Amino acid sequence: MASRFLGRHIITAKQFTREDLHQIFQHALEMRRIVTTEGATSLLHGKMLALIFYEASSRTLGSFDAAAKRLGAETIIPSPGMHYSSVIKGENLSDTVRTFEALSDALVLRHPKRGSAAEAARVLRKPLLNAGDGDGEHPTQALLDLFTIFLRRGAIDGLTFVMAGDLRYGRTIHALFYLLRHYRVKIHLVAPEPLGLTLDHWKEFHGLGLDLTEYQTLGSAMGCADVLYVTRVQKERFPDRPELFEQVRGSYVVTPALLDQAKDDLVLMHPFPRNDEIAPEVDQDPRAAYFEQIENGLYVRMALLGLVLGKI
Ligand code: NCD
Repeated sequence: MASRFLGRHIITAKQFTREDLHQIFQHALEMRRIVTTEGATSLLHGKMLALIFYEASSRTLGSFDAAAKRLGAETIIPSPGMHYSSVIKGENLSDTVRTFEALSDALVLRHPKRGSAAEAARVLRKPLLNAGDGDGEHPTQALLDLFTIFLRRGAIDGLTFVMAGDLRYGRTIHALFYLLRHYRVKIHLVAPEPLGLTLDHWKEFHGLGLDLTEYQTLGSAMGCADVLYVTRVQKERFPDRPELFEQVRGSYVVTPALLDQAKDDLVLMHPFPRNDEIAPEVDQDPRAAYFEQIENGLYVRMALLGLVLGKI
């Protein structure tokens, strides 16, 4: 039976049902088995994936590239950052993605504008995966985040989340919220005042049934956290207000002293890159899960590629 993901775009975390998530996680577990025992498979042999990144990326670009190659596919990466592509000559997004559609079997797009993935998908027949659209969403990151929690804790229902950092512009957080609506969880928000959730987002997430509470400091929310998810201030999203970055940087920092107040089985997460939000000494703490997130991203993206290309 063909998967219901065959040929589908992955644009928003809103598109997944709870059932979908568990299906993806089962495939991701199988991908982990393949990678750890055999290293690679030829499931996508002969397939070509175009990785179109208009914005900086280390993990997401590397992860999709590695996922494709571990599945036996090849990748085209048109001039990272698109600096030497025809975008410089004024080519529009539609022409660029249709060009790479003609050369590949599926596309991955990262773009600084919210809504760009949906916009690009409208002109495509082959599947497009959103690898981050401005301050919009980052659905594959949300999947790998949830998969990491699932692996660490065995279940999502019943957990208390503390989400700290840039809740306004943090696309990984927005996407994760759309997945968390399928579970019975509590969410505590800790953000410097100008970077809290927008009213629109607050209303939307509340309307989806999420149980949200604001906290002033990380310390006050720590004791009850099962998951602490920390993000970087997305300073590139407000280039005209550099003083804001200076004002908020360092306003929440995870240190060994802070973790003394946390549960022993806390899952400490960060989508990376980090700035000053997590002290490097914390990396030794077994509760730190951020390097695991990166590894799990490989398995989740392998699963997604296999699904949208109809090979699993
Ligand atoms: C994030 C992103 O680009 O949205 N990183 C990632 O993809 N793992 C978060 C960030 O840039 O801070």
